[in-house]
Amino acid sequence: MILKDAKIKIVNVSGSPHGAIGNTQSLVKKFVEALEKKGAQPELVNHFIVKEHVEECRGCTRCMRKGSCVMSGKDEVDQIVSDLLAADFVIYSSPIYVLNVTSLMKKFFDRTAFMTHRIVLEHKLGIYVLSSQGLGIDNVSSYMKSVMEAEGVNVLGHIEGTAIFHNQFLNQEEIDKNIEEIITAMETESYKEEEGYSESEKKRREKFASLMDQEDISKKLFHEDYKYWAQRKEKE
Ligand SMILES: Cc1cc2nc3c(=O)[nH]c(=O)nc-3n(C[C@H](O)[C@H](O)[C@H](O)COP(=O)(O)O)c2cc1C
Repeated sequence: MILKDAKIKIVNVSGSPHGAIGNTQSLVKKFVEALEKKGAQPELVNHFIVKEHVEECRGCTRCMRKGSCVMSGKDEVDQIVSDLLAADFVIYSSPIYVLNVTSLMKKFFDRTAFMTHRIVLEHKLGIYVLSSQGLGIDNVSSYMKSVMEAEGVNVLGHIEGTAIFHNQFLNQEEIDKNIEEIITAMETESYKEEEGYSESEKKRREKFASLMDQEDISKKLFHEDYKYWAQRKEKE
């Protein structure tokens, strides 16, 4: 991808309770500024879950059975998903809270669980951004990557900031390196060479596809998912 003059619509879904003024968002801004320095024209659309009306998942599995959510139209999740579908680049960003993403971020993931069943964001480019005080990064990092890949995103990298004071990071050099690596991946399109997805995601997808092959289970339990996978198989 040639970054100079490239118009890039970036949709950032943030689970930070501090929204626009938090440590997490300052890392997102650093990335966008780095793109601008390269001559790109990023358009950043932020969805701060803390500020938006996002209901909890009701656990009814209607999205998997019928393809629509029981809460559809009653909150702002449809708009977020529609923005994600229109995005050139997806960012999921969250502080680490008690060795995990925040409950705000998880609430969004639960509400959009169908995106992992039907690979709704297939081949979109994206990254995840985490800020913390340095505890629990490995597990959360691996979790974020798995969620994004399960939704179909080609994860080009991540930014992890260890914040001690407000918007001040102990690992500034590492953050700059993280950003540089993401930009290099965008410029060289190296994600295509590696077929985009990790080995663990490829295995997860195979398992999911074979579950969908068991019609007695999948037709009954996850009818909409079953239809998606049947059509996908036909095309292959
Ligand atoms: C309730 C709570 C739990 C936290 N748990 C962790 C943790 O498990 N590991 C860690 O490194 N930092 C933890 N932190 C620190 C935050 O991740 C850190 O301050 C982060 O930079 C905040 O980002 P924000 O300004 O975008 O909200 C926690 C903070 C809070 C308030």
